[in-house]
Amino acid sequence: MSFSRREFLTTAVVGSLSLGLRGQETNEQSSRTAANPAGKRPTIITAHNGYNYIDEAFNMLRGGADTLDAALRVVRGPEDDPHDDSVGLGGLPNEDGVVELDACCMHGPTRRAGSVGGVRNIKNVSLVAKAVMEHSGHVMLVGEGAERFAVAQGFPREDLLTEHSRKVWLLYKETHSDWWGPGLADPNWKKRFEAPPRVGEWQLRMQRMDVVAAEIGIPPEMRRDAIHKVLFPPTGTIHCSALNEKGEISGCTTTSGLAWKVPGRVGDSPIIGAGCYSDPDVGSAGATGSGEENIKVVGAHTIIENMRHGMSPLEAGTDALKRIAHAYDNDLDRLRFMDMTYYVLRKDGAWAGVSLWEGYGADRKPHTIVVHDGIKRAVKTVNLFPGFSQDWPPTPGSY
Ligand code: GLY
Repeated sequence: MSFSRREFLTTAVVGSLSLGLRGQETNEQSSRTAANPAGKRPTIITAHNGYNYIDEAFNMLRGGADTLDAALRVVRGPEDDPHDDSVGLGGLPNEDGVVELDACCMHGPTRRAGSVGGVRNIKNVSLVAKAVMEHSGHVMLVGEGAERFAVAQGFPREDLLTEHSRKVWLLYKETHSDWWGPGLADPNWKKRFEAPPRVGEWQLRMQRMDVVAAEIGIPPEMRRDAIHKVLFPPTGTIHCSALNEKGEISGCTTTSGLAWKVPGRVGDSPIIGAGCYSDPDVGSAGATGSGEENIKVVGAHTIIENMRHGMSPLEAGTDALKRIAHAYDNDLDRLRFMDMTYYVLRKDGAWAGVSLWEGYGADRKPHTIVVHDGIKRAVKTVNLFPGFSQDWPPTPGSY
């Protein structure tokens, strides 16, 4: 999906370590002033891929719908969308080519939670997480048990691997294994790996991948993105927090997780306190990005506790990012291979979107969060470090 320039408001000016806390506070004031200095209810915040669904969710809140149902309306959109390869149907699979999904939700008004991890064959895992919350005495179900529970609750089993995701996975397999793709007996094998004259190691690698991508049938306009996803496996994900007029608040997060992961790997998204945390006394927070890093700092819960003790949404989110950086002694050579975005919504309607880096991906997309408090807009996050994660192409010596 894309934004027009007009829709893409940059009210929260990019922050960085070099700006210091004063600059970040200024950024927060400007972004809050653009909405409402005292915060505004109702308010919904979500990731960029929730943009097309947030209007309906906002109208639901206006009509008196439950806050969790409104948040789930947003994240169910990308779960149903076969063209969103970060979540639900069409999500990028594990290293075996099997899509495994994670999700969780927290219902602020009743202080309940539900979660599922490593679920196969069911696309709306955010709704399965809600079903765990409402129709079981448990909080978290994983793997085959979660799938069987979902089917018992009426969720249909379906093949989640789309043709596009299968082809990108094949590109991963054929360029990361000696035994996938045409073997030595193939009459064309020499042609496929013919070295172009005098190119660097990375260019050569990318040119080889481009040839394989063409053979697999990935269209030319999608090859650069597919190669980037093979070399720098994305973590996708969507989070949404929703606050109504009464001050009730809920949140949910759903994902297909890290592309090409070891089967059984579970990220931060279904971990209550990491991928999402909603406390009716304080607010709601969620995360997209490097799951392993977020689990270690229990990001969403850390943010809520920070706000409980007086930090603003921006300070609370920035502190969680700094904990990730601290775990790596602020070593940017390692931190540039990970990323994290936090979505923070306080119960008075004040909000913040913060990220480790300015943006990501082959096309250097900026990190944004989508806010709706009567006006829908995509807002650039306040980043801790200047620059982009997973820079393209990788610089020599970065491995
Ligand atoms: N944040 C999503 C994941 O790492 O699985």
